[in-house]
Amino acid sequence: MTIAIDVHLPADQAAAMEVDVREGLAATPKELSPKYFYDERGSRLFEDITELEEYYPTRRERQILEERSAEIVAAAGNPATLIELGSGSASKTRHLLDAMRDAGSLLTYVPVDISEEITRETASALVEEYPGLDVHGLVCDFEAHLERTPTTSEAGPRLIAFLGGTIGNLYPDERAAFLCRIASLLDVGDHLLLGTDLVKDTGRLELAYDDPAGVTAEFNKNVLSVLNRELGGDFDPDAFAHVARWDAVHEWIDIGLRSLSAQDVHLADLDLTVHFDAGELMRTEISTKFTRPRLEESYAGTGLAMAHWFIDPAEDYALSLARLA
Ligand code: AVJ
Repeated sequence: MTIAIDVHLPADQAAAMEVDVREGLAATPKELSPKYFYDERGSRLFEDITELEEYYPTRRERQILEERSAEIVAAAGNPATLIELGSGSASKTRHLLDAMRDAGSLLTYVPVDISEEITRETASALVEEYPGLDVHGLVCDFEAHLERTPTTSEAGPRLIAFLGGTIGNLYPDERAAFLCRIASLLDVGDHLLLGTDLVKDTGRLELAYDDPAGVTAEFNKNVLSVLNRELGGDFDPDAFAHVARWDAVHEWIDIGLRSLSAQDVHLADLDLTVHFDAGELMRTEISTKFTRPRLEESYAGTGLAMAHWFIDPAEDYALSLARLA
């Protein structure tokens, strides 16, 4: 058992955020990237969201992994290596690792995450829990540095897992580009395991993103606190309202912040004043929901094809296995 952690964080992360936020605030309509939700407080608020009664995706995904990891691992050809994008504390991942261990194939776990601290903690915990396991962690923004993922498959097939439904945050063109890049990392015999939330009753979808306790509203508004801290902003979170609406045309939940009055916001580090009209909506996230045909369509043309589809009994959520087309 060994642990190796490679860190590939760009030196100019702050500069990249400045460029990105400046562009987003200059756009019509205004838009911020959901990646800025996740500072320490935002990550904690997201954890709180996953425990809400109304927010079913995390529970459903865990249920599928609990009940069907053995099947998933067998369908993926008993992989020797599990590469997990956005691994975090890897709580759901253990079901896959257990199934790989039980199949006798498990050798290496590659957690890929933006947080060095969490990746180190997860790596230490896992080598204790899985005797003989090698952990080769990568600290990077996997949207930017996917190519750093180890690609040797001499030991046996590899499984790349992207769980949590985070692919739903990408626009269709970004999603296609992402899947193309995954395809470029796969060899024959390797698989991608992708978590996707599914289209369902509009009322349930909207409640999952606008809970009565207001946890999701807090999470959404936290992006303003992040901008205040990182860019010298003076956003007043109370001057914005949380909005989460089902967009039936695009089949995504459209999440944003509505300016409650006409106001000017300053971002000192950008030397920028931004005007918001009363009622103006700034998008902070999309969360795309899928159907099986829509997902198969998403794979088409990326070099990947869906091989298996695992769904919970309530048909709320799906894990799909894809391989080279
Ligand atoms: C972490 C992107 C999967 O889209 O459901 C939860 C984020 N936003 N509530 C999702 C989120 C508001 C979540 N993902």
